[in-house]
Amino acid sequence: MSVNRPRIVRSVRLPQPVEDRIASAFDAPPVPETPLSTDEVFRLAAERKAEGLLVTHHAAIRGADVARIPDSVRIVATVSVGLDHLDVKAILDRGIAVTNTPDVLTDCNADLAMMLIIAAARRVKAYTEIMRNGWGHTLAMDELLGVRVSGKTLGIIGMGRIGQAVAKRAKGFDMKVLYHNRRRLDPRDEHGATWFADLRDMLPHCQILSLHLPGNPESASLINAETLALLPKGAVFVNAARGVLVDEDALIAALDSGHLFGAGLDVCRNEPNPDPRLLAEPNVFMTPHVGSATIETRTAMGMLALDNVVARVENRPLLTPVTA
Ligand code: DGY
Repeated sequence: MSVNRPRIVRSVRLPQPVEDRIASAFDAPPVPETPLSTDEVFRLAAERKAEGLLVTHHAAIRGADVARIPDSVRIVATVSVGLDHLDVKAILDRGIAVTNTPDVLTDCNADLAMMLIIAAARRVKAYTEIMRNGWGHTLAMDELLGVRVSGKTLGIIGMGRIGQAVAKRAKGFDMKVLYHNRRRLDPRDEHGATWFADLRDMLPHCQILSLHLPGNPESASLINAETLALLPKGAVFVNAARGVLVDEDALIAALDSGHLFGAGLDVCRNEPNPDPRLLAEPNVFMTPHVGSATIETRTAMGMLALDNVVARVENRPLLTPVTA
């Protein structure tokens, strides 16, 4: 154990450039081959008197966990923008700093949301299955048709950094963009989108609806039978934010009845074991919570988390502090 290197424990293996930096400049346990549980992270941290914990949603620190964070720990640096796996206030109350990784993942998350919109509208799941089975028959002119994406009206719930990046991309598809947020944004950040103070007023106009808000008890099941019923028939629904935002029984009912044309989901309630009914839906295109999963973005996230640990250990201002 070196005295000069910041002592850290990471809950998951990080991209190679980040691991190389850890190997050369940090004091850390061997690379975890599979994600570590919260208990394992704490055990290693206690053993090694770690100053920093790098965690993701696999190693939640909530409720009673907070009191068990070893006393040596000065910072919990989550390698995510989302904070729903952390009891932030309680961690801060223990005098432990919390940081996350905003900004560096905005573009890739927005790119993935666009992919989900297009995949659900253009029936990528059905086409992929056909190709996997060797194709084998010419499709009729009216067979397995998708719905047009360009020119549609897109509703965005949550116009933070990622919501705004989706709005920018949607302009390239000639979409009309609407958004619902607690507050109206400065017009410079609206990217031409129209604000709706009341979600219920916006939903009937949304041919495509995309969620970009945090998952917390207040937003849980925001998408439910009532809100889904307000969407126009044939709408496409996309969630690249958090599974808890959606009542999945209501979503499945809306798909089965044909009220929704399809859905694109990067997240679901019971990750990593989605409701089998969602997996069986012919026009639900799902990805395994990979909004930030590019070489560039995951590397930048890991580097930012390390920069925050170094700043904390050197008593410098944190780069991306989280406040309660
Ligand atoms: C994030 O950064 O919040 C991603 O969703 C991973 O949890």
